[in-house]
Formats: sequence, C-alpha cells, structure tokens
Amino acid sequence: MDISVKQASPASMKSACLVVVVHEKRKLSRSAVLLNEASKDFLSRIVKSGDLRKGKTLLLHNVPNVAADRVLLVAGGKADATTLGQTKKALNAAATALSDSGAANAALFLDDWLIEGGDAQHAARHISETLTAASYRFTELKSNDNTLPLKRVTLVTKDGRQTSAAKAGARIGHAIGVGVNFARDLGNRPANVCTPTHLAEQARELKKGRVKLRVEIIEEKRMHELGMGSLLSVSSGSRQPAKLIVFQYRGGPAKQKPVVLVGKGVTFDTGGISLKPAATMDEMKFDMCGAASVFGTLKACAEIDLPLNVVGLVPATENMPGGLATRPGDVVTSMSGQTIEILNTDAEGRLILADALSYAARFNPDVVIDIATLTGACVIALGEHASGLMSNDQKLADRLLAAGDSAGDRCWQLPLWDEYQEQLKTNFADMANVGGRSAGTITAACFLSRFTKKYRWAHLDIAGTAWLGGTKKGATGRPVPLLMQYLLEHRR
Ligand code: BES
Ligand code: MN
Ligand code: ZN
Repeated sequence: MDISVKQASPASMKSACLVVVVHEKRKLSRSAVLLNEASKDFLSRIVKSGDLRKGKTLLLHNVPNVAADRVLLVAGGKADATTLGQTKKALNAAATALSDSGAANAALFLDDWLIEGGDAQHAARHISETLTAASYRFTELKSNDNTLPLKRVTLVTKDGRQTSAAKAGARIGHAIGVGVNFARDLGNRPANVCTPTHLAEQARELKKGRVKLRVEIIEEKRMHELGMGSLLSVSSGSRQPAKLIVFQYRGGPAKQKPVVLVGKGVTFDTGGISLKPAATMDEMKFDMCGAASVFGTLKACAEIDLPLNVVGLVPATENMPGGLATRPGDVVTSMSGQTIEILNTDAEGRLILADALSYAARFNPDVVIDIATLTGACVIALGEHASGLMSNDQKLADRLLAAGDSAGDRCWQLPLWDEYQEQLKTNFADMANVGGRSAGTITAACFLSRFTKKYRWAHLDIAGTAWLGGTKKGATGRPVPLLMQYLLEHRR
C-alpha cells in the first residue's frame, strides 16, 4: 500500500473515502467539524442519532457539499487524550471498514489521530505502520487470490510544518509495517516451504540491490569446524541441512560497534525424540518467528537507511526425530567449550541459540538481543500481550521496556537471579538443557546467559506474541516494531 502526505482542506478534497474521527462523548474532530459546517450539520445530526457505536465505524455516501465519494466516521477515544492502544484499535476498525467498502483510496486527517504525549511525526508513524500492517493478507497459497481494493492512502495535513513532520513519520511507519509484513510472510509459510534452505534463499533475496547489506550463509561443514556441537545436535535428526545466516547491515561508521540481533529459526519443532503431542502441533511452523523478526527488522533498517550498524544472526534448523536424532541423555559440546546434557530434545531453541550467541562475540557487539519463541511457560505467564524480557544489563532492559511501550509492542521483565541457575545442575555435564517445571521461562534464559558473558545481552521470549491461534491464526510480525523503536533510539 502506498502512503503519501498532502496539505488539503477536508470539504474540497477529492477522495474515494474521507476517514474522520468522532471522539468520545460525540465530540467531532477538527476535520469532522469542517465537514459538518460544509454539509450544514449533516454529520452532527447523524452522530446524534447514535448510529456510530463505541469502537465501530459508519460509512456515509453523498454527504452534501463534500467532494469525496464517501465519508467514514470512526469512533475514537477521548479528544486530546487518546492512548496509543485506542488509536491503533480505531485505525484497525477503519482499515476493516475500508477494505469492506469498494474504495480504492482513502484520506485521513493527521489532526484526528494525535496520540497523548506524541507529536505529528509520532502520529504519522503509527498511522502508516498500522494501516500497512492492516492491509496484510497471506494469499500466496490460495488459488483465487482476492486482492484488496484499497491501494493508496493520503495523510492530510493542515500546514507546511505538519507536512514535513508527517512525511518523516510516514516513511518510518511504512518501513516498519513492511518489515512486520515480511516477518509475517516468513512465519505463515508452512514448514514444507519455509525450510532452513528457504530462509537462506530469502536472506540472499533481501540482500539484492542493497549495498549496505551483506549476507553470508554458514553451512554444516563449517559449523563442525567451528565446534557448534549444540546447534548440530538439533539438526542431526532432520534431512534438512541447518544454515547459520549472517546479515551485516552497515549503515553507521565502520568503527561503530554493532547491535547484534539473534533470531531462533526452528522451521518446524516436532520436539524431536521428546516428541510433542499432536494437538496444535501445526503451530510449530511458527517456531522461526524470532528469525523472521530479524529479517523484518533488517529489511526496515535498509528501507529507511538507518545510520547504524546492525548484525543479524539466524541459526536455522528443523527439530525432527530422525534416525540420527539426539537422544535424551546425550551430552554435546558447544562452541564455547561448555558441555550440555540434553535431557529433553524439545528444549532445542536454547541449544541452537547457545552456539549463535557464542558466534556473536566475534562482531565485538555493543549489545546483543536474541529473539525466540522459546518457552510455552512464557505463554502461560504473559499471554499474547507482552513478550518476556530478561537481561544481564538493566540499562538495556529499561531501554527495551521503553521502546516496547512507545511502539505499542510491549515486553515485560522477569528476573535472572543466580538462584535460578541451580536448576540447570546435572551429574553428567556442565549443565542440563532443562531446569524442571518451575520458572521455565527464566531457566531457559539462565541457560542462554552462560553463553553471553562477554557482552551486554537481552533475551526476548516471544512464544506468546509472535503468532495468534484460533480463527485469527497467523504470524503477528512482533517484535519488529519494538526492535525498530529500540534501534531508532539506540545512540540517543
Ligand atoms: N518452541 C517451543 C516453545 C513453545 C511452545 C512456544 C508452545 C509456543 C508455544 C520450544 O522449543 C519448546 O518446546 N519448549 C519447551 C521447553 C521444555 C521442554 C523445557 C516447552 O516450553 O515446553
Ligand atoms: Mn521445542
Ligand atoms: Zn521450539
């Protein structure tokens, strides 16, 4: 979807659909007031009728003295005190109504969408991001691919100053939306399409035509040479060869230390020999959503030409119960030299991340952030609203918490106290790969922390946020907005 910015007045503006907000207590937004004046109280009479219900929209045709074909009323939050959450809800409701109508283009008035505590740029960013993400459909595997009628959105401003702020915000928001949708495409693809090899091909594809982005694929032979026994212990049960994808985005000065993003890329998680139960196992195709968020974030960085160095590492593998699969009780040696007793082959994410996190040290990172659909326990703890956050550096944790808040893609911190490390003790190796039933999200992070001693590190457990189940089944593209917000503010 194409988003442009233009200065115009509501009543005379030509458009297939003008989208205007009516705030709580039937208070018309500034653009609604102007349309109401032009149409001689047409809007206020309709609003008084009560047909615009809370959280809903109302589509009007033939509004007198208005040049546009349609006017879509959208019920918004409190005038002057609308939260980001309310704004996103209203934007999504508007997007649904627009896609149900036949309108090929639409116009929104920036003043209608100002968020409490934010400016015009902030509003423009969230409008572009939300509408870009709302236009997403996963149709590539359907025979009749019904395309959306809505192709263009215009953000309407009142003056030159607002126009330049809106342009800057719209550019960033659109890039984030595109990154989110890319992550969703990778996540939604079934595991027979989206294999580790497919992810490697997608990485090469992403690189094409982008001089600041480099891609290298590390094959299993090289993993052996590097001593990545932990990562290889997961791929050994699969016919699909593992790949370690290395992105280097060089937007900053050559000497600037990079932010390293590490994404779990298990393209299908059967559990291995510790086989998972059948119910909802199909959803384990989403077990590469951490990897997908790294792809999406790098794409967004490249789109906006972010002046920062970012490295993306994606260990990609299947977790299958083949004849060469790891058995419970097997002991492997990780790239760090530490030995691991694999008591449960379904705790595979931490095994592949361990070696990728060791590999991350060679980039002399400023910070390392890993993103992983790591534990079912995190879904129990936080549900689908917040990702789990754990870190060895409180300043980094605080920045990620703040980034999540302002991006509307929140995370919530859990402790990483030493006491929890005890649960990983075993008689047979340096550590076990599981720590028992209690505090499963934290002990998974404790395991990772043993491979991240050389740098500032944070772990995002996105098991609850990366996809939705039920009738809304599909990848969400989270936490691309959080990561982009963090990167945008990284050196400030
Ligand atoms: N990919 C799963 C985690 C997961 C499960 C995410 C369900 C979302 C929904 C991960 O590889 C896994 O299987 N974790 C185990 C760890 C356990 C064996 C310690 C889990 O959470 O059950
Ligand atoms: Mn697993
Ligand atoms: Zn997994």
